[in-house]
Amino acid sequence: MTSPLALGVLLSGSGTNLQAIVDAIAAGTLPARVAVVISNVPDAYGLVRARAHGIRVEVIPHRDFPSREAFDARLVETLHAHGVELVVLAGFMRLVTRVLLDAFPGRVLNIHPALLPAFPGLHAERQALDHGVSITGVTVHLVDEQTDHGPILAQAAVPVLPGDTEESLHARIQVQEHRVYPLAIRLIAEGRLRLEGRRVIVSSTGADAGAALVNPPPDAPW
Ligand code: GRF
Repeated sequence: MTSPLALGVLLSGSGTNLQAIVDAIAAGTLPARVAVVISNVPDAYGLVRARAHGIRVEVIPHRDFPSREAFDARLVETLHAHGVELVVLAGFMRLVTRVLLDAFPGRVLNIHPALLPAFPGLHAERQALDHGVSITGVTVHLVDEQTDHGPILAQAAVPVLPGDTEESLHARIQVQEHRVYPLAIRLIAEGRLRLEGRRVIVSSTGADAGAALVNPPPDAPW
């Protein structure tokens, strides 16, 4: 039996996506293990979650480094020291450089709270509300050098409802994030993704054809 895929989760905040990944692993639906959680923010709540599950944590404050590249070099050194095979950005509020991408080619994932290519960058929920869309969502993608731009692995749609605030929309989006991030990581862990240009092709097992598109069922809780 092969050993489960070693994940390195990078975060700066509350870590609910880390929690969803840990829960999916515990439930036996994600053949992976979290080898290390790294935060650039010393008091990020995600570190508390990681420690509660006995996951090794590393705090690497970005302000201790003279450049983004120097910071990323330390990230790479730490990820390698923990045997990480796949880097999972989960609310990591730093732009990454070629230093990290070259060390993990095609092996850095991000989750963004909108249906890319709509509303990249910060405050995606506010952008969606200001634009007046009636559907937004979640995107898991491979990271490249442009912000929120790389090949798309999985998306989920989320309705914008009358009276929504950034907070209420964010909460509805997070329900889908917590479904779709473990799913996308599972597709990688099972070796079922390949790239054609920037298109990601998912090989189907039949039972879950179209799994990369999460269609929330009519009885979804909103
Ligand atoms: C998520 O909304 C994600 O889309 C964005 O950062 C947020 C992280 O949330 N990249 P959490 O820390 O996992 O709760």
